[in-house]
Amino acid sequence: MKIHQNILETIGNTPLVRLNKLTRNVKATVLAKVETTNPGNSVKDRMALKMIEDAEKAGLIRPGGTIIEGTSGNTGMGLALACIIKGYKLVCVLNDKQSKEKMDILRAVGAEVVVCPTAVEPTDPRSYYSVSRRLAQETPNSWYVNQYDNLSNRQAHYESTGPEIWEQTDGKITHFVVGVGTGGTISGVGKYLKEKNPNIKIWGIDTYGSVFKKYKETGIFDENEIYPYITEGIGEDILPANVDFDVIDHFEKVTDKDAAIYTRRLAREEGIFVGNSAGAAIKGVLQMQDQLTENDVVVVLFHDHGSRYVGKIFNDEWMRERGFLEEECTTAQDILNLHPDRKLITVYAEELISHAVTKMRNFSISQLPVMKDGKIVGSIDDIHVYQLLIDYPQLRDSPISSVMGSAYPVVKESTPVDDICKLINKQTPAVLVELHNGDFSILTRSDIISSLT
Ligand SMILES: Cc1ncc(COP(=O)(O)O)c(C=O)c1O
Repeated sequence: MKIHQNILETIGNTPLVRLNKLTRNVKATVLAKVETTNPGNSVKDRMALKMIEDAEKAGLIRPGGTIIEGTSGNTGMGLALACIIKGYKLVCVLNDKQSKEKMDILRAVGAEVVVCPTAVEPTDPRSYYSVSRRLAQETPNSWYVNQYDNLSNRQAHYESTGPEIWEQTDGKITHFVVGVGTGGTISGVGKYLKEKNPNIKIWGIDTYGSVFKKYKETGIFDENEIYPYITEGIGEDILPANVDFDVIDHFEKVTDKDAAIYTRRLAREEGIFVGNSAGAAIKGVLQMQDQLTENDVVVVLFHDHGSRYVGKIFNDEWMRERGFLEEECTTAQDILNLHPDRKLITVYAEELISHAVTKMRNFSISQLPVMKDGKIVGSIDDIHVYQLLIDYPQLRDSPISSVMGSAYPVVKESTPVDDICKLINKQTPAVLVELHNGDFSILTRSDIISSLT
């Protein structure tokens, strides 16, 4: 009988699959190392098991112990499977940017999930780095994995992923491309491949909002590079010990929008249902295609499975809210469709100016149509009010009618966006759209800008 003794023995030996459609204009052969066939559906099973086994050998975990990790989900899944087979408890600390699916999946395999805010400094006590460390200190008989600095992470890829790619390509690989988070995958695979053939190029995919690219190119850790982004799993606001900058030849940044679009295209055009960082990786290859020739063999690694992103990248509503759907906006109606829940907020001409200010603040809007006797008779906007209140502070208790501007122009649902653009200018920050049921909606300057970008 050809059987595995337990699920952990099925980790690795993932397929290498030729990409045909997305890469049709690329001269090189582009092959995807599809890591979704690992039992935890991601490449991270490899390093999760290795980190636990190395810790066991080093006497860091004792039977019945608790393993604690700050993980974006995939490492947690790999750790969870290993913990089930080996009899450890697992606590996973995630940031709130991670998909709900990832959290539910971790709970399904018995992990305790702790969620932390994303928008805090790594050193903040609420950050998921700090919380995982603190839990490890407070929990008896526990071990903190620390996939960022635990070098068993990259060693796993040096021992398994790298050799597999070398053998599957018969040593013909010329480029390895992969998203970089902890740096384990790129550094382990990169080191192995470069030892086999130092001419192989290792390209890391980075996000806008991450420090890697600038650090590689200038040696400067620039905090200005750090800001929130959407792509999951790659990019960092720290320099993990697992990133071996010496084996990485180049970092290529890919936008959140492109990563999302290409993740969907991989599913629909290649039938490869993978996660967000895979979309970033293949888009990175396309951005770099001018450097590739017909003799090149590019291996791009796809980290995880698309099922973890059905509520996000594969959800039209989620994509639309972020302006990620490539829908052509040609009429007023097309732009209104991007904001299905929008309600027209108005003020009455007799209300005080201070009420208009409060309303704009509460609804986070910059302009308001002004109503009288059920009709739209004027408008008021934040720039105008701001200037007025600076010059004449006493006006805050005057009626809006005493300072309002003229009513915004009215267009139809079918009015072309080009015509709306001509109406919007410095004095007119918005237009009103007359809906087929007789009600009105509003389109602002920023709606037009986001529909165009
Ligand atoms: C979906 C996904 N893509 C890419 C990465 C980056 O891989 P590595 O941490 O090996 O650099 C991760 C790691 O968390 C991931 O979960």
